[in-house]
Amino acid sequence: MQNYAIDEKGYYGEFGGAYIPEILHKCVTDLKESYLRIMESEHFRQDYAQLLRDYVGRPSPLYHSKQLSGRYGCKIYLKREDLNHTGAHKINNTIGQILIAREMGKTRIIAETGAGQHGVATATVCALMQMPCTVYMGKTDVGRQQVNVKKMEMLGATVVPVTSGNMTLKDATNEAIRDWCTHPGDTHYIIGSTIGPHPYPDMVARLQSVISREIKEQLAREEGRDYPDYLFACVGGGSNAAGTIYHYLNDERVRIVLTEAGGRGVNSGESAATIHLGSTGILHGCRTLLMQTEDGQITEPYSISAGLDYPGVGPIHAHLASTGRAQVLAINDDEALQAAFDLTRNEGIIPALESAHALAALEKVTFSSGDIVVLTLSGRGEKDLETYFKY
Ligand SMILES: Cc1ncc(COP(=O)(O)O)c(C=O)c1O
Repeated sequence: MQNYAIDEKGYYGEFGGAYIPEILHKCVTDLKESYLRIMESEHFRQDYAQLLRDYVGRPSPLYHSKQLSGRYGCKIYLKREDLNHTGAHKINNTIGQILIAREMGKTRIIAETGAGQHGVATATVCALMQMPCTVYMGKTDVGRQQVNVKKMEMLGATVVPVTSGNMTLKDATNEAIRDWCTHPGDTHYIIGSTIGPHPYPDMVARLQSVISREIKEQLAREEGRDYPDYLFACVGGGSNAAGTIYHYLNDERVRIVLTEAGGRGVNSGESAATIHLGSTGILHGCRTLLMQTEDGQITEPYSISAGLDYPGVGPIHAHLASTGRAQVLAINDDEALQAAFDLTRNEGIIPALESAHALAALEKVTFSSGDIVVLTLSGRGEKDLETYFKY
């Protein structure tokens, strides 16, 4: 059986690694040498578990959606990451990373953000730990996620609008890396997804793996078996998906369905369907699939959803897609919007636009009546209300 775990050099098959400028070599190496030791220490485990329980509100419920189950003829559960403090799965990662940063003696935090959820989650833990925080955000996203910008500022973070490229997540990440290069000693860069140089994809996946650990326990209790037939999650950089599938990677009974943003259509020229459209290259410190021209220039992505509007994807997902372990579907803007309105009207839950991409994929899979399906609802829709009102 194929092993989908990361190897000791930080690769998932041919994807991953650490492609970084010399100036970052020491801080990335320090992190690589420290993260597992810290994460496995007793005091980290205790602090992390306690904050996840008392501050974030974990475990997040596994909610049996009768409405979706009836409609698709199987048993569908929603893993309710939208109910976490700050409204998405992103806080699972930022709490873990700030504890690691503190342990490593770092005194300043930087982050990139697309939808603003990771920015809010970072600003929140910085307020909690009293650390200064700078968040880079593309100007396009500053415009479409205003509430999150105001929240970050209220939490005490400095939000820097980025005006290069198409002013979205890729450009914010470029700028955060630039900042990191000029402050490699005192600054920890809290990357918000399973992207970046090794060890970030693995560290973020491990911190998000609380999602699949809980799914196992909850399914065992509810269904008398600890695995589903299907797992669904949306993929921007890939952190909620990595957390959802982490404990099931090598369990072939579990089919994995990942959804990326088709934008206005995969072949429309306005898309962020990286796995469908991408080829191998290096972006933000790792070898992965990315949208690029023949001569290696990054193609500007487009999605209605700021959190999925990224031309790369985590190396773990590039590997799962290229080995066929995961089925990857592209969901267009209009399909995601429809799925968001359906869940709102029929279940009373307003999902984040990102999560709506996973919901829309339920239409595209044929289930058997006994199937158990778990879909991660990565975030709540408050930040997307302006977009929803417009439609
Ligand atoms: C609610 C929500 N879901 C999903 C994503 C996509 O990120 P990832 O693929 O890392 O889970 C984001 C990113 O901002 C988000 O805010």
